Amino acid sequence: MTETDELLHLNQRLLNCIAEGNWAVYQELCDPSLTAFEPEGLGQRVEGLDFHRFYFNLGGFSGQRNTTVCSPHVRLMGDVAVVSYIRLNQRVGPDGAAFTRSFEEARVWQRQNGKWRHVHFHRSAPGA
Ligand code: GLY
Repeated sequence: MTETDELLHLNQRLLNCIAEGNWAVYQELCDPSLTAFEPEGLGQRVEGLDFHRFYFNLGGFSGQRNTTVCSPHVRLMGDVAVVSYIRLNQRVGPDGAAFTRSFEEARVWQRQNGKWRHVHFHRSAPGA
């Protein structure tokens, strides 16, 4: 497996654990000092995992959902890599109707002691 393939695999694992609400895997893949810009942060740079744990603790991850990564790009810079792509989230709403949301994502990974860990991400809705 190339490093690019490994990073795409790890990134997909991260997205899957978010979709499944699997906090243990999220913690395993993320550095405790993870920084993030995402819509939920209302323009603030969020640091650490507590902010994200809040959503895992809410539960409600059951039901039909699917995550698709479109046009992924991996930029390797030694022990740091940026994985960027468009993420499509398909869901079924409370009314039973399916809908899709789209996000631009850039996720930064750092190799620490031979193991890739997620250290920063930026997620925004197109046009936001
Ligand atoms: N909201 C958590 C994540 O996208 O990693």
